[in-house]
Amino acid sequence: MPRMRFRIILLGPPGSGKGTQAEKLNDDLGLIRLSTGDMLREAVRDKTELGIIAKEYMDKGALVPDDIVIGLMKEKITSLKEGFVLDGFPRTVQQADALSEFVDIDHVINLDVDDEELVGRMSNRRSCPECNVVYHLLYKPPMEDGLCDKCGSALYHRSDDSEETVRNRLKVYRESTFPLIEYYSKKSKLVNVDGKGDINQIYKSIEDAL
Ligand code: AP5
Repeated sequence: MPRMRFRIILLGPPGSGKGTQAEKLNDDLGLIRLSTGDMLREAVRDKTELGIIAKEYMDKGALVPDDIVIGLMKEKITSLKEGFVLDGFPRTVQQADALSEFVDIDHVINLDVDDEELVGRMSNRRSCPECNVVYHLLYKPPMEDGLCDKCGSALYHRSDDSEETVRNRLKVYRESTFPLIEYYSKKSKLVNVDGKGDINQIYKSIEDAL
């Protein structure tokens, strides 16, 4: 299948597995993975102008303002010639409207997972600061304790993965991002995938939906 048919959005609450499945789509189909969360965390680490602004919102589990994120993503997406998977964008109706003005999306996959599972996942998540691979201490542990399988960097626990911030991220998700399920459903683009269970089985369901 031509790769340009794979312009995909992964929707879902925090911790639903967007990053995990986007990485598999990248490994398997060679799709470019664009994660707004990873881009913003990198900007925070590098203390860029964007990072200084974004940190204030991310630390509280709030969304970074639409105009900033839209500007960032427009530049990235319009420069791509190949298929891609968007992880964490769009997150508001305003972002979705803006996206539709510069690209046509082929598939929107919504990962469905309940809140209690999400909180547990994020407290056990460990992330690689270099290549952004995510692990879970129980379900997807690294081969060597504390080190990334891909690049060997020391793994870290995200500062916004504390239970209090996670609860706020879930609230923000329900208020701002959940409406996108209906938004893309009305455009006949949405496929719901059960995001609970075996990671490879979930990937198989995504493949079947494409
Ligand atoms: P972002 O980094 O996008 O965070 P998020 O959407 O809250 O999603 P996560 O990265 O927490 O989870 P995920 O769905 O990718 O799950 P993962 O695969 O890691 O955003 C962070 C912040 O940046 C936001 O709060 C906001 O401030 C800002 N931001 C980002 N985008 C923005 C935008 N568009 N507009 C405005 N602000 C924006 O999996 C989670 C854990 O579960 C891992 O440990 C994983 O190993 C494990 N896991 C995965 N699948 C399974 C499974 N099937 N079973 C068991 N464990 C599993």
